[in-house]
Amino acid sequence: MRIFSGIRPTNEIHIGNYLGAIKQWIELQEKNECVFSIVDLHAITTPYNPKQLQKDILNVLIIYLAAGIDADKSIIFVQSQVKEHAELAWLLSTITPMGELNRMTQFKEKSKEHKDYVNSGLFNYPVLMAADILLYKAEAVPVGKDQEQHVELARTIARRFNQKFQKTFSEPKALIPKEGAKIMSLVNPKKKMSKSDEPKSYISLFDNPEQIQKKIISAKTDSGKDIRYNITKKPGISNLLTIYSLLTKKPIPEIENQFKKKSYSEFKKSLSKITVDYLEPFRRKQKELLTREVYVQEILRQGQIRAQSIAQEIMQDVRGKMGLS
Ligand code: AMP
Ligand code: TRP
Repeated sequence: MRIFSGIRPTNEIHIGNYLGAIKQWIELQEKNECVFSIVDLHAITTPYNPKQLQKDILNVLIIYLAAGIDADKSIIFVQSQVKEHAELAWLLSTITPMGELNRMTQFKEKSKEHKDYVNSGLFNYPVLMAADILLYKAEAVPVGKDQEQHVELARTIARRFNQKFQKTFSEPKALIPKEGAKIMSLVNPKKKMSKSDEPKSYISLFDNPEQIQKKIISAKTDSGKDIRYNITKKPGISNLLTIYSLLTKKPIPEIENQFKKKSYSEFKKSLSKITVDYLEPFRRKQKELLTREVYVQEILRQGQIRAQSIAQEIMQDVRGKMGLS
């Protein structure tokens, strides 16, 4: 199976991105042909600093490598370095009704968040995402829950292209993890953990041990004192239990049992330690890779060449079918 996924190089990558998306990628790369992109063309649809963008791209690459993505097995590349993404997005935008884009939840949320930055790139964001996926004829897209609607739209666009022109694409399906598809904010556990919120609401994969401890200890918990999973009555503790379970591979009931007579603060202390240990290789690898600029750039160059060779062939086929060549 061919797999495609990507992350925007914006701010810091957090544990929600890791548990919702990247963690699945590591397993998938063993048996599939995987293409993982750093989607900079998506990142520029919300306010950003041009001077910081290359650093953010490098940070995402380091996270991919530190998490265990193997550049020999998987293709890792920067979206803007393969021009066909922008070209296919334009072509697909001509078969996508505005009404469909108007319904997208992320567009509505982001337009509210950045009222003076509602650009047409943000509106067309899902079309570019469909182009990313279809440009490689990917069959599966491992993402967190918030991206399900966008993958659904990519399916609709693929179907429409096949009907209007000739059968070209299969309909990609979203791979949403059973646990961890929506990690919540540490400050407000009714809201998804998000890069654009204040730093104490998320744990960055590069946070140092003190930062991790501080954020977990001050994470919002619920009234009562039982460590029990109940998403409606105890959203705070349930979110922390989910993180605990995913990092230790222990089922939630077992963790509930382990902390049966313990306090919130004992549970949080234990979770802090587990998180600090789990993220230690990320900090180590970051330090190491920051000193190996040439090696890191070479990975992106190789990735670009490999991605291009697939994308160019598919693009030629699409141009022909649309009557452009
Ligand atoms: P983004 O940061 O929006 O580029 O997201 C990168 C990936 O992380 C996507 O697959 C998202 O669905 C996933 N993701 C983002 N936030 C969360 C979250 N709070 N919980 C789980 N997955 C998430
Ligand atoms: N839109 C995705 C996000 O915000 C990132 C993304 C861009 C993506 N293109 C993609 C994810 C293609 C999967 C496949 O998280």
